[in-house]
Amino acid sequence: MKLLVLNGPNLNMLGIREPAVYGTKNYAALVDFIEQSAKEEGVEADCFQSNHEGVLVDKIQEALGVYDGIVINPAAYTHTSVAILDALKAVSLPAVEVHLSKVSEREDFRQISYAGLACLKRYEGLGFDGYREAIRFLKAYCK
Ligand code: DQA
Repeated sequence: MKLLVLNGPNLNMLGIREPAVYGTKNYAALVDFIEQSAKEEGVEADCFQSNHEGVLVDKIQEALGVYDGIVINPAAYTHTSVAILDALKAVSLPAVEVHLSKVSEREDFRQISYAGLACLKRYEGLGFDGYREAIRFLKAYCK
């Protein structure tokens, strides 16, 4: 089983950006964590991060026929991107939304999730652990 793990804008700044909200560990540590979690679950996971909406759309489209599922933290594009929602719907792969912070308890403008409309499940406020939960969910779902 092969999963694509997508991270959106500014997640490459983990460790530097708002540590009180997103923690002190950097993006490389997140990738290590995801790879280790995938290994423990016996699945393959490829991580990709971009600050660009169209690049994320391209990656979702290219996942068709290659990956069994998508774990996605669209970051700020969660709340703005119909293009990412449409791409997820277009490929129709099982997808899970992850957010490091507890988005549901933050600002009003973060309360809409377009990508979430095409996702089976959402994990929020669990920090890195949310990605492991998403991998576990997709593993069970795809069985
Ligand atoms: C985020 C939450 C988003 O609202 C924010 O724009 C991000 C990160 C999270 O992981 O908590 O960049 O997706």
